[in-house]
Amino acid sequence: MEIIKVNDYNEMSQKAFSFFKEQLKKNPASVLGLATGSTPLGLYGLLIKELKGRQDLSFKTVNLDEYIGLGKDDEQSYYNFMFKNLFSELSLPSANWHVPEGRGRNNLSRFIKLLQDIGQRDIQLLGIGANGHIGFVEPSHKFPEQEAMIINLTQQTIQDNSRFFEDDMTKVPTQAITMGVPQILNAKKIIILASGENKAEAVKKAIQGPVTPQCPASILQEHSNVTWIIDELAGSKL
Ligand code: GLP
Repeated sequence: MEIIKVNDYNEMSQKAFSFFKEQLKKNPASVLGLATGSTPLGLYGLLIKELKGRQDLSFKTVNLDEYIGLGKDDEQSYYNFMFKNLFSELSLPSANWHVPEGRGRNNLSRFIKLLQDIGQRDIQLLGIGANGHIGFVEPSHKFPEQEAMIINLTQQTIQDNSRFFEDDMTKVPTQAITMGVPQILNAKKIIILASGENKAEAVKKAIQGPVTPQCPASILQEHSNVTWIIDELAGSKL
C-alpha cells in the first residue's frame, strides 16, 4: 500500500489528477470507477479543465453507488451529481458513463450485468465515509460477498449525508445500491482520497487497524495496488 501525504484538499486533488492523467495518456480507452461526495470534486474540476472541448474522448466510467428511490430527475441522485459535476462539461458520449440505477425493476441485476460488460476497471476511485465505508458498503459483522447489493444505510451515514438533503435526516434515502467488496477489489488500481479531520479516525482504522468489516475500508489492505492520498488533517491520527 502506498500512502501519499499532502498538505490540503487542493494538493490531494492535484495528486489524484496526476494518476488519472497518466492513466488516460497510457490508455485513452481506460475503464474508470468513479465516486461521489465532496472529496472527489476537486479532481473532477481538474479533469474538466484538462478534457473540456476534446471530441476524441473514449474512456468509460462506472460509479460505485446510488440512493435507492432516486433517479435522473432527482436533484440529489448520484446520477445528477455526476452529470452536474463532470459529464455535462465533457463531450464524452453518454453511453460511456454509467451510474447504477436507484429505481426500476431488476436494477440490481442490471448493475451486475453492467459491471461484467464494462470489464475490469483500470482505476477505482474511492472516498471514505466517517464510519469507514467505501461506496456504500457499510460497517457490519461480516464482509458482504456479493458483487453488488442493495443495503440499508447506517444512522451515521444518514446523518452525515443529510447535509445534502436540507439537513433533514428524514429526507435521506434509507437504502442504496452499491458495488460490493469483490467488485471494488477487482480494480487493477485503487486510489482512495481522504480530506479533513472528520475522516482521521476512519483513516487510522483502515490503514493501521485490523482488517475488519467494522471498518470496510480496512479490506483495502488486501489489495496489491492501493494508493491513499491523505491531507494533513485526515492523516493526523496516523
Ligand atoms: C458517501 C458515498 C461514498 C463517499 C463518502 C464520503 O456516502 N457513498 O462513496 O466516499 O460518502 O463522502 P464525502 O466525500 O462527501 O465526505
